[in-house]
Amino acid sequence: MANLEVTFAGIKFRNPLILASATPGWDGERSNRAWRAGAGAVIPKSFAPPGRWGQHPRTGRMKLIKSGKKRIGMVNIELYTTMTLQDWLDRELDKACEGNSSIIASVVAHPNPEDTARNAQIIEETGKVVMFEINVSCPMPAGEDKVGFQMGNDPETCYRQVETIKSAVSLPVGIKLTPTTHNMVPIAQACERAGADFLTIANSVRSFAGVDISTGMPKLCAYGGYTGPAIKPITQRHVSEVARAVNIPISAVGGVSTWEDVIEYMMIGATTIQICTSIMWHGYDFFKEVLDDLTVYMEREGLDSLEQIRGKALPHIVPIEELAKRRPLMAQVDPEKCINLTKGGCELCGDSCFYGAIEFAPKLILHRENCDGCGLCTEVCPAGALKLLPE
Ligand SMILES: Cc1cc2nc3c(=O)[nH]c(=O)nc-3n(C[C@H](O)[C@H](O)[C@H](O)COP(=O)(O)O)c2cc1C
Repeated sequence: MANLEVTFAGIKFRNPLILASATPGWDGERSNRAWRAGAGAVIPKSFAPPGRWGQHPRTGRMKLIKSGKKRIGMVNIELYTTMTLQDWLDRELDKACEGNSSIIASVVAHPNPEDTARNAQIIEETGKVVMFEINVSCPMPAGEDKVGFQMGNDPETCYRQVETIKSAVSLPVGIKLTPTTHNMVPIAQACERAGADFLTIANSVRSFAGVDISTGMPKLCAYGGYTGPAIKPITQRHVSEVARAVNIPISAVGGVSTWEDVIEYMMIGATTIQICTSIMWHGYDFFKEVLDDLTVYMEREGLDSLEQIRGKALPHIVPIEELAKRRPLMAQVDPEKCINLTKGGCELCGDSCFYGAIEFAPKLILHRENCDGCGLCTEVCPAGALKLLPE
């Protein structure tokens, strides 16, 4: 039986999968369902902040984003839990902890870091959580209060939040950053300097849910957070950039919908992987499915520990200027695999070539001298007949 255990910020988890702070961890019973389904740790919904930026719309908060009929993501305008912290502690925390679960408390960053720290202290006194995740990345609030992702875009503000909370509690403290930034690296480095024990990368991407063209109305009448499979490349960009710039562990979160996504995140430097939208779409047992698949993968690859693959892809990420200097590749066709050459009909690669390298006269002719090495034909070929190879 493969050993999926990971040590994250000094704490041992039975596996690297974590329920991300969101609706599936709305209360104690639901948080515990994630644990019973196999999650290595659970982050309940971010605790309620006071004030107008904590108010919660009940006019429809979630819209699926589709390409044709296929779901590719979701935009939501949900804020934090509507429960007070005291209610959560009195009524929900014990339920969340059943079965000796590992609970990570998500604490919303208040404009005054002392207030954030006070909440963390109250939670720590229960002795029931294993670490804290400071949320400076909610993509909804964008007013004068400068909370949520606006806070998370300011390295100095993040520094002060981490420093203040670290000096108030003894459990590990991490911070959940926003992908709605042009460069996460200086923010992550400020958090590391302030003593953060880990980084969570990242929250949802501030976005717009679209327009109902039959009424001309926005599908959601406020800006929200984009989540699910479509955001994975955005989050992976941030995880891989930050992983090369800091020495503290990373919990990756964004668009995980298969076990392969989990492995990808580890190969770009993550130690734990959080999941939200896939749980909302497929239920808590999604954890079981991914864990089973990870076990099969580890056995097949002969891995003793997931540590063996962490960061494997990072040394191969280079500046684009360096790549442009490398020897060009050109498309080459395998005539035995090509549907057009064997049976006729398929011309998909031709529609995707804009350099005059593919002609049908009437069968496929590859003008390699025109190929610019973009590789799109190899991506769209349904038979795997095209490859990019050196001249
Ligand atoms: C409906 C909804 C509510 C969310 N609420 C919170 C929250 O309270 N606190 C938080 O830190 N992140 C919250 N998130 C963000 C998720 O934790 C996660 O960062 C994001 O959904 C990206 O992961 P995914 O693609 O697996 O969904 C929420 C996401 C969704 C979809």
